[in-house]
Amino acid sequence: MGNQALDKKIGGIPLPSLSLVEGANDTGKSIFVQQVTYGALSSGKKLLYITTEETSGGLINNMERLNWNVTDPFITGHFKVTSLTTGSMSWDSQVAKYYLIALINYIKQRGDQFHIVVLDSITHLLTHATDSDILNFFTQCRYLVDTIGQTFMITLHPYALNQELLIRVRSFCDGHIILGIKNIRDKNVLSINIAKLKGASKTTNELILYEVSPVYGIKILPFSSARG
Ligand SMILES: Nc1ncnc2c1ncn2[C@@H]1O[C@H](COP(=O)(O)OP(=O)(O)OP(=O)(O)O)[C@@H](O)[C@H]1O
Ligand SMILES: [Mg+2]
Repeated sequence: MGNQALDKKIGGIPLPSLSLVEGANDTGKSIFVQQVTYGALSSGKKLLYITTEETSGGLINNMERLNWNVTDPFITGHFKVTSLTTGSMSWDSQVAKYYLIALINYIKQRGDQFHIVVLDSITHLLTHATDSDILNFFTQCRYLVDTIGQTFMITLHPYALNQELLIRVRSFCDGHIILGIKNIRDKNVLSINIAKLKGASKTTNELILYEVSPVYGIKILPFSSARG
């Protein structure tokens, strides 16, 4: 993942795979997938990054500020950023249905160009969709993973789905990574819990604690805690 300390704990994201990165606001979803993005690009992978949170220029600036060089792969076309503005649209279940279909078609059409697809975040696209449209979207992602070997990393705020649906969506996924904020020694630190990561060379049982350093991005803290 382009971060030795994190690689030692997680052993990298298996390819191909479908992973869900779950966490409330400010728990590090974007930082985490940007770390994975940087690592993948550094090892020569081609990556499509779909964001509902930023412009492509904003994303690249943010990553460059953390010393994750993504400008070069952006120029060569190994790194493509698609910015979806979803906030100003008026949503209903019909709009959500066709938006999800359009999105999966967009990804499909680029399936032979990009090994990895990051989607940060899917939350807005799901909040107005029906359960069956949501399941259909994840079924299609699963299909692309299994047939053409694409890897997906999708971030989600857990409030976007009801508990029962969330459990079903998780069952589609090879990876399930839960991010959180913990108060340790009177300091707020971010946490990574690898709840599931099928095919990984190693998976840690401990809760990984880190802070976001303006210089390195994810900086793993030396102390760890029992999971729970
Ligand atoms: N460039 C940066 N330098 C320092 N800290 C940063 C930087 N970018 C983000 N952070 C901090 O890292 C933490 C996690 O931010 P991040 O944007 O990854 O959360 P998120 O889970 O994606 O939030 P949201 O649900 O709002 O999208 C926040 O506390 C944020 O202030
Ligand atoms: Mg975010």
